[in-house]
Amino acid sequence: MSVPAAILISGRGSNMLALIEACKAPDFPAHIVQVISNRPQAPGLDIARQHGIDTRVVDHTDFASRAAFDQALGRALRESGAHLVCLAGFMRLLGPDLVHAWHGRMINIHPSLLPAFKGLNTHERALQAGVSEHGCTVHFVSAGMDEGPVIGQESVPVKPEDTPQTLARRVLEAEHRLYPACLRALAQGRITPQSPQIQS
Ligand code: GAR
Repeated sequence: MSVPAAILISGRGSNMLALIEACKAPDFPAHIVQVISNRPQAPGLDIARQHGIDTRVVDHTDFASRAAFDQALGRALRESGAHLVCLAGFMRLLGPDLVHAWHGRMINIHPSLLPAFKGLNTHERALQAGVSEHGCTVHFVSAGMDEGPVIGQESVPVKPEDTPQTLARRVLEAEHRLYPACLRALAQGRITPQSPQIQS
């Protein structure tokens, strides 16, 4: 049985593509029913279409309030038929009602080893902090920004010669491995917010 999943994006869509590619494997337990962007110009929308995936835009600038945007997004997600939602570079904070409605079924990827470096510019901040290890995290979405039970993390070394760009590239490669593995575990029913860690 394959679980229908939607992906929310705001931009480039490289994690989205990693999930789309993973779902092509015959034994993958999920399939992507729709990609939804809050930005009409998100490059990821074209990439999704090129892979035959249905796309939809729910433009946050069309709504007077955050709550109205959340309601429209919630409606779009229900209409997509998705049972799971993957945030992949989706750069809007979601309100508690929407997060609650998708409790245990909505996951996010973040480019740091949470709880370190929540928010933006994680690679610059990791270099400034002088950490020797950096990486990425997939977690269940909760109302706080970049919070919620951690499903999986992959760390990468920070090298002395790293710039934010070289570090970002190394972390992104890890993201593209980690996210499909976490979606697989979620779709197989192997993890919940109460027991979120993937057991290998
Ligand atoms: C990724 O690095 C993702 O982890 C990050 O945005 C990038 C999107 O790239 N997400 C966040 O910072 C969320 N807090 P992509 O569009 O190529 O997947």
